[in-house]
Amino acid sequence: MPDTVTAFGPGRVNLIGEHTDYNGGLALPFAISEGVTVRARATGDGTVSAIASDLDSRDRFEIGAVPRVRGWRAFVRGAVAELQAAGFPLTGARLEISGTVPRGSGLSSSAALEVAVCLALLAVAGTPPPDRLTLAQICSRVENEWVGAQTGLLDQIASLFGEPDSALEIDFRTLEVTPVALELGGYSLVTLDSGERHANAGRDGETAGGDAPTGYNKRRAECAAACRALGIDSLREATPERAAQLPEPLAARVAHVIGENERVTDTVAALSASDLERVGELLNASHASLRDCFAISTPAVEATVRRLRDAGAVGARIVGGGFGGHVLGLLPPGTAVPEGAIEVRPGPGARLL
Ligand code: GLA
Repeated sequence: MPDTVTAFGPGRVNLIGEHTDYNGGLALPFAISEGVTVRARATGDGTVSAIASDLDSRDRFEIGAVPRVRGWRAFVRGAVAELQAAGFPLTGARLEISGTVPRGSGLSSSAALEVAVCLALLAVAGTPPPDRLTLAQICSRVENEWVGAQTGLLDQIASLFGEPDSALEIDFRTLEVTPVALELGGYSLVTLDSGERHANAGRDGETAGGDAPTGYNKRRAECAAACRALGIDSLREATPERAAQLPEPLAARVAHVIGENERVTDTVAALSASDLERVGELLNASHASLRDCFAISTPAVEATVRRLRDAGAVGARIVGGGFGGHVLGLLPPGTAVPEGAIEVRPGPGARLL
């Protein structure tokens, strides 16, 4: 059993397929090279101490009975509690956490943190990790049960299954993950920060403020209400005809999910035909639907989309949960990367370094 380990969890960019994961739909994300690094030392003393160097903040607690807390500490405490609840024994560790994904940016700093903390804790305890899907589900429970964000499995699967040069087509009905070659033929993908931060958790005093449900959790509740009204288990079974009979805003929310699933399939086809102009059109259509039907855009995000399109992007759209964060743009060959934008490409998934 190693005394010290270093684990890395990447953030992700979702090429297309937004707000489809918790609706049994389709998405096409990839892991990026930015992420969270956790250095862990075994202490064997039955406690976990964690230092978040970027936040200049620390935590310490007993692993036997983990008390609840808000903010970034909830991720570490939740990881310890959920790993043990799933039957993976831990001993005690000292964790040093640092990251390169801005929080609340739509590039999934949360999943990067959960995944890296879990891998580090298991490695210093000498406990073999479960398969990647099981680990993604444990990490998702950390977010749902400890952080209070009713997020789906998109980010955790992307972070754990990432592969260089490929996006991952995920079918959330079967949890099947299929790598799709991301050959851009001279085009490039960039993300540009809207400058607006968001929080997915409804009860995160440090980031969301107060106890009001966030827009993310509200959207999730609206999709569940639409399922109840339609008498179906997931919006994957919804049809445009039946969706149109729902009251607003539910009809619009369902229309987004149905259209977005189709756009994922169309994007996979356009990539295999090397038709990057078509990929750009699909990104624009996704953004329009997220803005008009799912209502998760903001003036700052719209301004950022315009900046990317003015810079020559053939497609641009908000990524992640919405209400701020980064915008993804597809730039044709020879286009200069706009100031402040970062080029992103698929990288390997979470791992021990
Ligand atoms: C956030 C959530 C994901 C997913 C996206 C929207 O990133 O964590 O589960 O729902 O928003 O596609």
